[in-house]
Amino acid sequence: MASLQVPMRGKSGKSPTTKAVILVGGPSRGTRFRPLSLDLPKPLFEVAGHPIISHCFAAITKLPEIREVFIVGYYDESVFRDFIKDCSRSHPSISVRYLREYQALGTAGGLYHFRDPILKGRPDRFFVLNADVCCSFPLEQMLRLFEERDAEAVILGTRVPNEAATNFGCIVSDAHSKRVLHYVEKPESHISNLINCGVYLFSTEAIFPSIKSAIKRRSDRPRLVSYPSSDALDNQYLPPQDDDDEDGEKNEVIRLEQDILSDLADSRQFFVLETKDFWRQIKTAGSAVPANALYLTKAFQQQSEELAKPSATILPPVFIHPTARVDPTAKLGPNVSIGPRAVVGAGVRIKESIVLEDAEVRHDACVLYSIIGWSSRVGAWARVEGTPTPVREHNTSIVKNGVKVQSITILGKECAVADEVRVQNCVCLPFKELKRDVQNEVIM
Ligand code: GTP
Repeated sequence: MASLQVPMRGKSGKSPTTKAVILVGGPSRGTRFRPLSLDLPKPLFEVAGHPIISHCFAAITKLPEIREVFIVGYYDESVFRDFIKDCSRSHPSISVRYLREYQALGTAGGLYHFRDPILKGRPDRFFVLNADVCCSFPLEQMLRLFEERDAEAVILGTRVPNEAATNFGCIVSDAHSKRVLHYVEKPESHISNLINCGVYLFSTEAIFPSIKSAIKRRSDRPRLVSYPSSDALDNQYLPPQDDDDEDGEKNEVIRLEQDILSDLADSRQFFVLETKDFWRQIKTAGSAVPANALYLTKAFQQQSEELAKPSATILPPVFIHPTARVDPTAKLGPNVSIGPRAVVGAGVRIKESIVLEDAEVRHDACVLYSIIGWSSRVGAWARVEGTPTPVREHNTSIVKNGVKVQSITILGKECAVADEVRVQNCVCLPFKELKRDVQNEVIM
């Protein structure tokens, strides 16, 4: 990718400053990521050998002008402590801080609540990345478009099949100018197949007044009880705020997607960068498998030293943690990640799967399209398998014998599959023992 040649200028004439925010949500979100999120917050779940959030952070670090990154969410303070330590060690010139919402404030509410730290040092603009997307994060191209068009906001967009589009935020844009003409979150009928990727670049001058107006509009009308698609917003009680809180901030969840983006489209300085590169949301636990494949493929294309060397038994791309023990007769790949201290026995076959920390796959077992949870055990000659779905498919459920089941088989933490047992299209909650063949079941 070409680097930015044009020295960018802010409105004051000096080089503009840019910050970045990663939105991570909190424990009440990511419910579709169960059973894996029962044991680990979704942003820390490892795909292609690294926590989901570190793929976002890695993309941010490619822009040398970003010196400050905020992780905004409502998980406990301790959750991201080690991750932030690692970031500071690997990138000492970047300040990374966790800003904790007292409860879910929504994707725009959190930004507004923490506007003081974000605005400190008067940055001209800042990126916002949803932590739960898997993509190549073409942030530099977004910056370039932002500069070229003197934009107030740039959104990353991608095309999806028409029938999938209404599950996302849809963007109607001018093909020539890239201007966003219209934005509707999960429209009832088809308006466009160009959808919101959950990556934005906002001018600080434009976004905060826009969120403030949305808060004002909201407080001027009766309170909404909940948004239909949101699990965490069902509970709308917000505790009383300090008296010095500004107008209306106290009482509502504000979401970029529902409350802000369609207004920005009216501003005429809102543009879309359409990426042709890979993009997927990581919502269901099963979606970690295609995300793992996409990030591994990217690492392979970039000839990452982290990946296992291709051989007769390693079909690339494959990631094997240095502390894992893989028997040389086991055949792995493509698109396999093996976590720390995992043990893979002789004659094992693993394909399109993630084997997590301390798990064991005993000799001659077969693991396909599956996630093997932390410290789980797959017995000798056992078979744990999901069903392949098309790469461009954004859904991780399939219909089998008239029943909707997960295409990816997931074993939660410390599950055990007995020798020679076959597990097919199942989701298995932590600590379960499977002693007989099962298919198309949620094992609780
Ligand atoms: P739906 O897609 O509507 O089902 O909601 P979702 O919860 O799956 O995700 P949403 O698109 O609303 O969230 C996008 C990103 O923002 C994800 O990374 C969430 O973790 C994060 N997020 C969602 N709500 C909040 C919030 O209240 N505060 C913060 N800080 N982050 C949030």
